[in-house]
Amino acid sequence: MIELRNLTKVYGKDKVAVDDITITFPSGSIIGFIGPNGAGKTTTLKMICGILQPTKGTITLNNIDIQNNPIEAKKQFGFVFDNPDTFLSLKGIEYIDFIAQIYKVNPQEKNERLVKLSSDFEMEDVLNDRIATYSHGMRQKIMIIAVLIHNPSIWLLDEPLTGLDPQAAFKLKELMKEHAAQGNTVLFSTHVLEVAEKLCDSIAIIDKGVIKYEGTLNQLKNSYPEKSLEDIFLKVTSNA
Ligand SMILES: Nc1ncnc2c1ncn2[C@@H]1O[C@H](COP(=O)(O)OP(=O)(O)O)[C@@H](O)[C@H]1O
Ligand SMILES: [Mg+2]
Repeated sequence: MIELRNLTKVYGKDKVAVDDITITFPSGSIIGFIGPNGAGKTTTLKMICGILQPTKGTITLNNIDIQNNPIEAKKQFGFVFDNPDTFLSLKGIEYIDFIAQIYKVNPQEKNERLVKLSSDFEMEDVLNDRIATYSHGMRQKIMIIAVLIHNPSIWLLDEPLTGLDPQAAFKLKELMKEHAAQGNTVLFSTHVLEVAEKLCDSIAIIDKGVIKYEGTLNQLKNSYPEKSLEDIFLKVTSNA
């Protein structure tokens, strides 16, 4: 479970990127965090995982406050960045081992998970290559494997499906469903409302730093029975 209370981020003097958000993302569900470019999704996710300091407000992860108890809070989640261009000089396997060590994953468990995940994402043959030689999609996949290798309770994924091939996207969605079904929290951002269909238990729509809708996609559709999903999205995120 993730709880945000009055969460606000102001960049510089007056760029309000996230504007007084109060919302709870419950355990046992996949939540789509949806909004157009520049809505404040990445800023919110980076505050949730402690990379960015909020200007105001509080964040708890499984009831642990990230500001008061950062180490314990950080053990609760794994974060897949929207920009996977990190640790380029490491080999894929070195990066996975590094993450497994940081999170003190039992070596046997690590090996078992790695065999399964690298097969799931068709990465077995490139684990010994440097991340610098990977395509964008492969970099994303190695970041996803690195998060799943330590099996955190909360998954935070920033635009995880953008740039993945259909097979990998399908696999990731299956893993997200499995993880949520086991009672965990999966929060992912997207700027594509269609991605949320079939996958999400609930959605939160953010626009200009403000939560415009929170609930199920079906409830949202029922409130605008005559409109297409695209029209609904445009309507909810317009000033009208
Ligand atoms: N480091 C930064 N400094 C100043 N403004 C920023 C910074 N990062 C993001 N912003 C601004 O904050 C707003 C929200 O950005 P972001 O959270 O990246 O949106 P999203 O992920 O939904 O596309 C945008 O207007 C963006 O230009
Ligand atoms: Mg973003």
